[in-house]
Amino acid sequence: MYNLTDKVVLVTGAGRRNGIGEAVVWRFITEGCRVVISDIGSAKGTSFSNDHIGTTDDMNRLVEAIAAQGGQAIGIACDVRFENEVEHLFARTIETFGRIDILINNAGVGYLMEAVTNVSESDWDAVLDTNLKGTFLCTKHAARHMIRQGQGGSIINIASQAAKSGFPFAAAYTASKHGVLGLTRSNAVELGQYGIRVNAVCPNHITTGLGHWQNQYFSNKLGLSYDDYLQSIKDRNPLGRTGLVEDVAKTCAFLASDQAAYITGEAMNVSGGEEYH
Ligand SMILES: NC(=O)c1ccc[n+]([C@@H]2O[C@H](COP(=O)([O-])OP(=O)(O)OC[C@H]3O[C@@H](n4cnc5c(N)ncnc54)[C@H](O)[C@@H]3O)[C@@H](O)[C@H]2O)c1
Repeated sequence: MYNLTDKVVLVTGAGRRNGIGEAVVWRFITEGCRVVISDIGSAKGTSFSNDHIGTTDDMNRLVEAIAAQGGQAIGIACDVRFENEVEHLFARTIETFGRIDILINNAGVGYLMEAVTNVSESDWDAVLDTNLKGTFLCTKHAARHMIRQGQGGSIINIASQAAKSGFPFAAAYTASKHGVLGLTRSNAVELGQYGIRVNAVCPNHITTGLGHWQNQYFSNKLGLSYDDYLQSIKDRNPLGRTGLVEDVAKTCAFLASDQAAYITGEAMNVSGGEEYH
C-alpha cells in the first residue's frame, strides 16, 4: 500500500504480546518488509520483571507466526540501555538483511510510577535509560548505517501524550518522553542532509500490557473500578474511545513511506483529538 516492499525495518520493544511493537511489526510485514524484532529478552536488575517485558520466547513465537505466513523476520535480544548490545543489534541486522531502512524506537518502560517524592534513583535511571538513552543509542547506530548506505532512511520514535502534557506519578516517564521529542527535533535537523527523516508519534492511552498496568494503577489511586476508570478516559476523548495498537502501526507505515517525504521533526498526535498541540 505504501510501496515499502523489501525495506528492512527494525522495531525495538516488539516482543511483548499485544503491544504496540507487535502491531507495528505485523503492519510492516503486510507491507512486504523484512523485519527485525528486538526486545530485552529477559528481566534484568531490580526495576524489570518478566511480567512486564517481551521475552526471547515471545520474540521466537512472533518470528514463527510471521514465517508461517510467508513473511521474513528475525528476533534479536537487545537491552537498549547498553551501547555494546545496540551495536551488536545493528551489526546482526546488516549481517542478516544487508541494510537498515527504517527504525522504530518503541522500547519503553511505563510501569514504574510513584509520587515524585518517592521515586527511587534506580527506577528513575531504568525509565530514562530505556525510553530516552535507548532511543538515542539506537538512532546513533541506525543513522551510521543509513549514512553509509547513502539512500536516506526513516526513524520513528514512539513518544507519548506524556511528551506534551504532564501526568501525576509519572515524573520519570513524562520527563523521558519530553526528552524524546527534543531528540527527535535535534536529529531531524542534523540528519536531514542525508535524507534521513526523524519523526515521533504521540499516542494517548492504549490498553496494551503496559496500558493495562496503568489502568489498574490509576483506578486504584482514584478509588474507581477498573471499568469506570476506563470509561472516564473514553468520556473525555473527542472520538469517545481509547487508542488501538493499529492506530499507531498505521501512522508508522505512513511516516516511513514516501507519502511523508516532506515530513520530518514532527511529533504526530494519535490521540483521537485529546492532545492537539
Ligand atoms: N500503551 C500506551 O497507552 C502508550 C501510550 C503512549 C506511548 N506508549 C509507548 O509505546 C511504547 C510501547 O508500549 P506498549 O504500550 O506497547 O507496552 P509494552 O509493555 O507492550 O511494550 C514495551 C516493550 O518495551 C520493552 N522494553 C522495556 N525495557 C526495555 C529495554 N531496556 N530494552 C529493550 N526493550 C525494552 C518491553 O520488553 C516491552 O516489550 C512505549 O515506548 C510506551 O511508552 C504507550
